[in-house]
Amino acid sequence: MKTIVIYRSKAGFAKKYAQWIAEELEADLLEASEADASKWAAYDTIVYGGGLYAAGINGVKLIKQNLDSLKGKKVIVYACGASPLRQGVINEVRNKNFTEEQQRMIRFYYLRGGFDYSRLRPLDKFLMTLLKRTLKRKKVKTPDERGMLESYDHPVDFTDRKNIAELIEYAKS
Ligand SMILES: Cc1cc2nc3c(=O)[nH]c(=O)nc-3n(C[C@H](O)[C@H](O)[C@H](O)COP(=O)(O)O)c2cc1C
Repeated sequence: MKTIVIYRSKAGFAKKYAQWIAEELEADLLEASEADASKWAAYDTIVYGGGLYAAGINGVKLIKQNLDSLKGKKVIVYACGASPLRQGVINEVRNKNFTEEQQRMIRFYYLRGGFDYSRLRPLDKFLMTLLKRTLKRKKVKTPDERGMLESYDHPVDFTDRKNIAELIEYAKS
């Protein structure tokens, strides 16, 4: 079974998972900017992973726009966000990014990444500063919101090799 892992990652969190997955599956690894449909013709399993930005999976249109060329292959997509792993988060991301038909073709996983403000590009820094202001103004904050605010000063990294276990099991099945 030949597998390729393709990823798009801004601060390195989704990339770290891609490297771990490629190691476990003895797969080839490719950055999304170098990938197109011709690159996966010779593979049986395609894993795509991207960071989560405003609940959208970075670069996932590469997969969605080329689903015809993926027919008959095993297609796995993971999103890597800062939010804690919860069924609600998984469902929201899955439903926001994929139609019902796409969900039948694609097995989706959520792998928790991290947050490092210092490594963001100017536009993302600006957007996250707006979010920080909004969060700061809230009188009652959820534990997640408090955690998010703290992470602006202290980068957080929740990546863990154990998180890929289910994805690996499915890819090998
Ligand atoms: C502008 C912006 C929007 C974000 N939106 C979300 C989000 O909707 N949900 C989430 O869980 N994390 C969100 N994050 C956090 C990233 O998904 C997280 O840092 C992720 O690990 C980044 O992965 P990458 O470095 O591989 O791109 C956001 C970060 C930025 C900068």
